[in-house]
Amino acid sequence: MLGNDIRYSSEVTDQFVKHAIDYVGAGVVITDPSLPDNPIIYTNKGFEELTGYPSEEILGQNCRFLQGEDTRKEDVAAVRDAIRDEKTVVVELKNYRKNGEMFWNELEIYPIFLESEQKAFFVGVQKDVTQRKRNEELVSHYLEEVTRLSTPIVPITDTTSILPLIGDVDDRRLNQILERVGEHVQKSGERNFLLDLQGISRFHSGVHNGVLRLHQLLDMMGTRLIVTGFHPKMAMESVRQADFSDQNITFYSSVKQALTFLEKEENR
Ligand SMILES: Cc1cc2nc3c(=O)[nH]c(=O)nc-3n(C[C@H](O)[C@H](O)[C@H](O)COP(=O)(O)O)c2cc1C
Repeated sequence: MLGNDIRYSSEVTDQFVKHAIDYVGAGVVITDPSLPDNPIIYTNKGFEELTGYPSEEILGQNCRFLQGEDTRKEDVAAVRDAIRDEKTVVVELKNYRKNGEMFWNELEIYPIFLESEQKAFFVGVQKDVTQRKRNEELVSHYLEEVTRLSTPIVPITDTTSILPLIGDVDDRRLNQILERVGEHVQKSGERNFLLDLQGISRFHSGVHNGVLRLHQLLDMMGTRLIVTGFHPKMAMESVRQADFSDQNITFYSSVKQALTFLEKEENR
């Protein structure tokens, strides 16, 4: 009968544990910090498969041989500090296999104290998370693209650009708009900036505040804000919010009207 009172010899348990660790779906290494440069004293099969290095080639070396030029120095420093303080650490590092191929290593390092040896060791667990990182990079690339496309600043003359706003504006989008317009005006040094609200789906307090903040930003940069497509419903809504009237913002009902005014102004 199986039960708690079955005793296994420590040799059998050791063999069993080694075998089991070989078959976990991750790399496992153990290092000995009492030896110079905290070298590897054990690797499992998962580590050999992940890195392409056979165990006999790397025993006695510090794990940093997996790093390359591209490995973020801040993350390596976090690992160094955690090892110095004997703390657990989890980082994602760019590492390189024996054949030179880069992979993203989700590395966890744990300090362990072995009573029987009266000694501390470190255990490192390595997981290949390259696919997840690639997906994250792709998502962030597309998000940037969406931001760029949702803030299409179009220069229309040497002194004027226009931003036609379409859809809804929430706080996140508003901050992106302010950032992009700020960068654009700083580079171009344009005199006028047209904000066309014709395509705005809802004129709520967020849009109202956005216009005020954009006005303040452009004012500080010496650029005039001209708001177009501001129809009567918006004007009524805006009366309920803080007043636009003492802000010195120029309003036109259409882009065409604003451009006619600017043309006349140029020719004066
Ligand atoms: C148990 C253990 C496993 C480690 N595994 C890795 C690893 O897979 N990849 C890596 O880039 N660094 C790994 N390191 C970190 C490096 O060995 C080293 O500690 C790190 O580069 C910081 O020290 P350094 O600035 O002296 O290089 C591991 C460290 C320990 C203790």
